Amino acid sequence: MNEEKGILDQETVALDEEAVAVVIIDQTKLPGKTELIRLRNAQEIWDAIYLLKVRGAPAIGVAAAFGIYVLAEQIGTKDYDAFLSEFRKQKAYLDSARPTAVNLSWALNRMEGVVTSHPKESVKEILRLLKKEAQDIKEEDIRVCRSIGEYGLGLVKPGDGILTHCNAGQLATSRYGTATAPIYLGQEKGYHFRVFADETRPLLQGARLTAYELHSAGVDVTLICDNMASMVMKNGWVNAVFVGCDRVAANGDVANKIGTSGVAVLASHYHIPFYVCAPTSTIDLSTSTGAEICIEQRPGEEVTQMWYKERMAPEGVKVFNPAFDVTDHGLISGIVTEYGVARAPYEKAFREIFRKKEGTQE
Ligand code: MRU
Repeated sequence: MNEEKGILDQETVALDEEAVAVVIIDQTKLPGKTELIRLRNAQEIWDAIYLLKVRGAPAIGVAAAFGIYVLAEQIGTKDYDAFLSEFRKQKAYLDSARPTAVNLSWALNRMEGVVTSHPKESVKEILRLLKKEAQDIKEEDIRVCRSIGEYGLGLVKPGDGILTHCNAGQLATSRYGTATAPIYLGQEKGYHFRVFADETRPLLQGARLTAYELHSAGVDVTLICDNMASMVMKNGWVNAVFVGCDRVAANGDVANKIGTSGVAVLASHYHIPFYVCAPTSTIDLSTSTGAEICIEQRPGEEVTQMWYKERMAPEGVKVFNPAFDVTDHGLISGIVTEYGVARAPYEKAFREIFRKKEGTQE
């Protein structure tokens, strides 16, 4: 990597066109070390997603899109049916890396659509189209996050205190982040927000990633442990909460990093608006309510010993380690998309949002 570059000058996910490899920042090493790694085979790409070397719903989608393109380049047949069959096998494998963020299957389905809608094209041409689609997914992500930032900025005022949970920042997207987009755009306008970043146990995305990227950008950010959110809210230091999400159900229930629903309950208690920032790619209308969302369970070692010099829990103790929880739509003040802010009733609001989206694509 170029040592002169700050973390926000690095691309979260990129394609090395020459080496035909996915390039990511290994986020498990942050903030201590900025290491770019190249992923070339299915196992490397799957592991990078599962082990959270690349994480955050939109970034997972972009990595999967570049990943399936890289794997498609290696298929090595000119026969369309054989190509499609192998493509689908690789796609199913990548799709199994993490279950909760819908952007993974959303991006892979979009890539598959390129193959299935061109049955008469040569495999060479399909590969060219796959590369373009993956690059488009990344470019769109940047535009979408900027737009979420603009709508989000309209919900706060200069000097406000903003609390966020986990990392829905630039490191979770291609640029700006989702929950951090209003913060970065406000920073450009001199809004001087005071941001509180929950550390986000057990994998510390808030401490290692959000506090790091906001601090690097010169934002006034204060790191707090997850159990301090109530106190900073009670003190009157928080005017709004912005969080990201991994899947939004049709009724407005939202799956996001474990601990998010607790923050929403606190915000409701202290009458603080709680906003979820969601690209439309994260809204899954085929899931009716949050109860249907598959919540990823992760190894207990993440709670008992990871990040500690010595293990901090008795050997053999039972551990419950869900990576996400569901926030009831009744606790959400608004869902900020790239087409505007959806408010309850969400079924109706999402119909409007998708109508707007389809209108801009005609
Ligand atoms: O387990 P992670 O780090 O992938 O979880 C990330 C989150 O929960 C984010 O808030 C979410 O993916 C939105 S990222 C814009």
